[in-house]
Order: sequence, then C-alpha cells, then structure tokens
Amino acid sequence: MTTPCIIRGLGHCVPETRLTNADLERMVDTNDEWITSRTGIKERRIAALGETTVSLSHQAALRALENAGVQAEELTHILVATFTPDAYIPSAACMLADRLGIKGRAAMDISAACSGFLFALETARAFICLHPEAKVLVTATDVVSSRLDYTDRSICILFGDGAGAAVITADTGPAGPPPAVSAKVLDVMLATDGSVNGLLTVKGGGSGTPYKPGETLRRDFFVEMNGREVYKYAVRAMSSICKQMLEKHALSTEQVDVFIPHQANMRIIEAVGSRLDMPAEKIFTNVQKYGNTSAASVIIALSEARAEGFVKDGNLVLLSTFGGGFTWGSALLRF
Ligand code: ACO
Repeated sequence: MTTPCIIRGLGHCVPETRLTNADLERMVDTNDEWITSRTGIKERRIAALGETTVSLSHQAALRALENAGVQAEELTHILVATFTPDAYIPSAACMLADRLGIKGRAAMDISAACSGFLFALETARAFICLHPEAKVLVTATDVVSSRLDYTDRSICILFGDGAGAAVITADTGPAGPPPAVSAKVLDVMLATDGSVNGLLTVKGGGSGTPYKPGETLRRDFFVEMNGREVYKYAVRAMSSICKQMLEKHALSTEQVDVFIPHQANMRIIEAVGSRLDMPAEKIFTNVQKYGNTSAASVIIALSEARAEGFVKDGNLVLLSTFGGGFTWGSALLRF
C-alpha cells in the first residue's frame, strides 16, 4: 500500500558565474553557431572556488524549506542525489545536515547521475510509506564542472552546475495551512540498463580505476561520453517511459498540461516531445541558460517553472530524466 505523498516546497540555486558560448570560443575550437544548433545552449553557470555540491544544496534547501513553511529541525530524512559529492566520506547528505544544524536524522546520497532527482523522489516516497510522519528533504545537485575536461570541446560545452531541492511529506489533506507549493506525487517510474555502462562514464578515482599518490589525472577522471549513442538511447528511453506512465494512468498527451524533460540539450528535448506528440508550448525548457546540470536539471526546471507561473494550480505535470548508468525515469505530479 502506498501513502499519498506531496511536494510541499521547491527551491533552486545556481552559481553566479556565467560561462557563455563566447567564453568557450576562447577556450576550445568551437563556436556559438555549432553549440546553439547542436544543443540550444547559450550559457551555463559554473561554481566559483568554494562553491560546492553541499553549499549549493544548502542554498536550494533553505529556499525549499521556506517555500514549504517547514523548519530544518522538523526534517526526518535528508537525501542528496549527486555524482559530484564534495567527498566520498562524509557523504554530501551528512555535510548538508550539518550545515542545516541538524543531527541524528537519516541522511544519505543517491547515485543515479542525471536521473538522481527521480530516484531520490521515489526513495522519499518509500520512507514516507514506512514512516507516514516523515518530512523528507531531497536535494539534487551537481558541480559537473569539477569533472569536466575543458580541453575536450565535445563535452565541456554541454554541462553546467546547479542545485534543486524539494520538501516531501505525506499528503495530510486539507489539515493545517496550505503550503505555497502543493503537488501530489501521483506516480514515479524508474529504469536502468547497466549493459551499456561504457557509453557515459566518470571512472577515474573509483575503486575500479584508482589513482596512486603522485599520478597525474587521466581522461578517465572526467566525464567521457559517446554523444551520438547517448543521444539515441536517451530519446528512446525517455519517450518510452513517458508513454508507459501515461498508459498506466489511462492518460493521453492532451491531458498533460506541462512536460518537463531532463534539460540535456534542445535536440533531445524536441525529439522526445515529437515522439510524445507534445506541443512545444507545453514543454518547459531552461537548458539555454544553464546547460545540462545533471541531477539538478529537472528539479531546477520544476522549481523555476512553478515560480514563473508556467506550472499553475491544477496542472498535471509529467517529468522525465535520463542519465549515465544508464538510468531513466518519469514522474506524474498534480499541482
Ligand atoms: N564545436 C565544434 N565542433 C565540434 C564540437 C564543438 N564543441 N564538438 C564536436 N565537434 C565536431 C566533431 O569533432 C565532429 O567533427 P568531424 O566531423 O570533423 O569529426 C563534428 O563536430 C560532429 O561531431 P559529432 O559528435 O558527430 O556531433 P553530433 O551531431 O553527434 O553532436 C552532440 C554532438 C551535441 C554531443 C550530440 O551527440 C548529442 O547531443 N548527444 C547527446 C549528449 C548529451 O546530451 N548527453 C547527456 C545526456 S545524458 C546526461 O545528461 C548524463
């Protein structure tokens, strides 16, 4: 049996520093026309020295908590979805709990690359089923720039840094004052395929590819990707899981008010939209200004879409993610 869950608050935070296509033209052999036509990206935000997954998560979390009208002390579980934690130990979630001034709660990281937010959202729903009084903070954050080789033009142009956060509780119905954000989580679907794990990797420094003291960094320390194969798989996987979600709930595309796909690049977004017959005006995008922020992408987009009024009360919202692993998923929300 599932306990109905609700997103009570949303927040996001991106670094101040902008890296434009013009900046990249000065760093690698590329140009604005190539980047814009292949990806739709115009600029991305890059963490400054001292800005980390934990610090960006903290800012996003404070905004989500305020939005939800929940105090940090009330939180029972803290989840951070990321592939770029500040450290292997302690986890980003333990460090975030400390920044929030709370101890003695369950805090853990979730690794699902760009699909991290949906994997964390489903984990939050599981905690709430076990503990209906739970108040779960989910942040999905990546400082992708810490794992980018800025001499590799095929990859460094794609990504940016950022954080998104959501406060999730059981849906207690009309009891108490209504939260600013009130989105029922109707369903989440997740999928993985580890057989194609060589197409998108960050291996260096893991136990399978360790570094010894004094060794210089190799390419494996950074994001490596077969862009064409990732593109094809991502389009197939996202459109297929969205169709499954709609079929499961006997919904048509027309009944979806807003579609928020993983903000990887415009061509993937357009191809998925076309396979779903989703009109462009229903699709929220911010990839133009942030690039691909990995785990943070879909939660930043949801937070921004709600704050800007693109997502309105009563709207049915479909989310979809895709990331390394491969991992992918979709979620259905009713605002
Ligand atoms: N500037 C100029 N030229 C470039 C650049 C660049 N930044 N990068 C590559 N090129 C060149 C290549 O060297 C190649 O030149 P060549 O024909 O002389 O060999 C040419 O452009 C075409 O390169 P391709 O890689 O074939 O270009 P493609 O059309 O496939 O586009 C892209 C590349 C944009 C990466 C595309 O494959 C794509 O969108 N892939 C999906 C990647 C992605 O978004 N991944 C993340 C999703 S999953 C996740 O979020 C973890």
